[in-house]
Amino acid sequence: MESTARMTPPASTERYGATAIGLHWLIALLMIGGFYLGWIMTDIPGIMPTKLKYVSWHKWIGVTVLLLAVLRLLWRATHKAPSMPSHMPRWQQGAAHLTHVLLYVLMFAIPVSGYLFSSAAGVQVVYLGVLPLPTIIGPDKALKAVLRLVHIWG
Ligand code: HEM
Repeated sequence: MESTARMTPPASTERYGATAIGLHWLIALLMIGGFYLGWIMTDIPGIMPTKLKYVSWHKWIGVTVLLLAVLRLLWRATHKAPSMPSHMPRWQQGAAHLTHVLLYVLMFAIPVSGYLFSSAAGVQVVYLGVLPLPTIIGPDKALKAVLRLVHIWG
């Protein structure tokens, strides 16, 4: 009979570093917070100060996520990620890899679509209320509708 010690997979000494772990949790918390704000702000009817305040906070959080996502991608391009446990079936390794790629795509696509949506709606983003950011595209009704869908579905 196989002993418990032999059945337990060997512990990995490889770990993500403090920078990767820090960025992971910071981006995760900001995305969850931004998602929650996005959800409740769109439920507030009409245009009232609270709604405008929430929309601004939502955009600032989203732009921060985008900046951190760039840092994260740079970190990932210059550091080797820990390898998957050797006992993990190949299909699970593939699924994990695919999920990582998808999360990277969403980490960029959601804030970028939100940013471009604002531009297409003719609204400039003023980061933290002090730094006006460039309006990349001019007002465009058709594009605005597409970007809104991409943002919401993302
Ligand atoms: C991680 C980043 C982001 C997440 C997770 C996120 C998520 C969301 C969610 C869940 C909604 C509500 C959708 C609905 O129920 O109708 C929303 C709406 C919106 N977001 Fe974002 N967002 C992000 C970044 C941004 C950025 C960077 C901007 C602009 C600079 C932005 C602009 C908007 C706008 C203007 C709306 C209102 C859309 C409407 O009129 O229905 N978002 N977002």
